[in-house]
Amino acid sequence: MKRIAVLASGRGTNLEAILEAVERGDIFGEVALVISDQEQAQALQRAERRGVKALFMAPGNNGGREQYDRAIVEQLKEDRIDLVALAGFMRLLSPYFVNAFSMQIMNIHPSLLPAFPGLDGVEQALAYGVKVTGCTVHFVDEGLDTGPIILQEAVPVIQQDSVETLHQRIHASEHRLYPTAIDLFCREKLKVEGRRCMIID
Ligand code: GAR
Repeated sequence: MKRIAVLASGRGTNLEAILEAVERGDIFGEVALVISDQEQAQALQRAERRGVKALFMAPGNNGGREQYDRAIVEQLKEDRIDLVALAGFMRLLSPYFVNAFSMQIMNIHPSLLPAFPGLDGVEQALAYGVKVTGCTVHFVDEGLDTGPIILQEAVPVIQQDSVETLHQRIHASEHRLYPTAIDLFCREKLKVEGRRCMIID
């Protein structure tokens, strides 16, 4: 069974969906650690409520991104983590972090990448006027939302949508998609060749 760490900055509804999937036996792994860069993140409370080790790690003002990432990597190694799942973790990872867990870090993004990367993927899609958007689970490389795509799901935009209503439907889709991608990783069914990620039997 793989040992999963979830990194989250905010509400943690994706974390909750992952924890529920683990409890149902839909993910062949366990969440061994949750880390947040925000002391008040709901994600930490959700983890604690389920008895999962939850750590607030303060980014600090000096030392920069890499020093913070070194501390996180050290913690992940100490907890013998196999897969890092970013779930609304609003920090760009340093090359040091990405290389330490190469093709072992996943992210969920609220658009159909490569459209609308970065912050506010939902807002960007709505403002652009696309009729279909969605969510993407991808491996993390050194770029901004540029790593090999694992799974995507489309979500139609309706005329009356606000950022909130659209994000709500995207969230529902994320909560199905992310646990599925994590389970595929845990069962060693993902194979990456260049940009392409294949599901193997
Ligand atoms: C999710 O919609 C996720 O796709 C997005 O943050 C939200 C976190 O929600 N991530 C990004 O925008 C990353 N660029 P949650 O805290 O309820 O899981």
